[in-house]
Amino acid sequence: MIKKAVIPAAGYGTRSLPITKVIPKEMFPICGKPAIHYVVEEAVASGIEEILIVISRTKNLIMDYFDHSLELEAFLERVNKTHLLKKTKVPNVHIQYVRQSHAKGLGDAISLAKPFTGDEAFAVLLPDDIFLGTPALSELMEVHEKHHSNVIAVKEVAAEHLKDYGVIKGRLTVDGVYDISDIVEKPVSNPPSNLAVTGRYIFTSSIYRKLNDLHPGTGGEIQLTDAIRDVLGSEKCLARISSGERFDIGKEEEYIKLIQSINQA
Ligand code: UTP
Repeated sequence: MIKKAVIPAAGYGTRSLPITKVIPKEMFPICGKPAIHYVVEEAVASGIEEILIVISRTKNLIMDYFDHSLELEAFLERVNKTHLLKKTKVPNVHIQYVRQSHAKGLGDAISLAKPFTGDEAFAVLLPDDIFLGTPALSELMEVHEKHHSNVIAVKEVAAEHLKDYGVIKGRLTVDGVYDISDIVEKPVSNPPSNLAVTGRYIFTSSIYRKLNDLHPGTGGEIQLTDAIRDVLGSEKCLARISSGERFDIGKEEEYIKLIQSINQA
């Protein structure tokens, strides 16, 4: 059983400037709660017991949010507003933090988790991808429990949008999961399929060796996709299509649609 998860939250959020100069994308409000709260809830609902959040100098708001607000709780009791106490609660899970000195890429952020996960397999959840419906991570857990392999969440995406994603090439197996044979980051032409990688993963510790060997790739960043491609040479990596609806809050139209969907539910 996978008990540890890593949430990388140290990126600059350039697509969402200027607000991300001061408000981390991971703290964007969604019906009163920050985006990362939903992702921590998904991790807990999937059986995760310990979380490492990768932050940076400008992301201390995330640590503050998950801390206990003792003065606020005392205030609410003093002024007889105890009915609001439940709104100050955060998910009951052990959270620790590590700082990425600067945003050298998602792969670099994940490599910082090695002392936390050791040799165990672990989950990764990107906090700017929010899933509604069945927790996407729990679906990956089911696959990992059966195959003990790396597992990636994918979604079918319209052809014109594939250039914004990592895209897998894979063979559909009898279990209804894809056995990945290749993965391409943001293909400008000839995407290998219509299956785009979304922000949920389970990795064995082999990913760290591959990340350590990498040189900066697309955009000068240490790309997670490059490490996954290297893993394919020696280990199985499966993909499962998530059943839930997925929203990338770095895209304003999806952020607005997410809020509307929650309000309508
Ligand atoms: P994204 O690429 O979606 O986020 O990374 P970003 O880089 O912050 O945003 P844009 O693309 O410039 O608008 C996915 C997740 O990985 C984290 C981000 O914080 C985000 O939650 N990340 C990315 C890191 O922790 N470190 C990095 O070096 C890069």
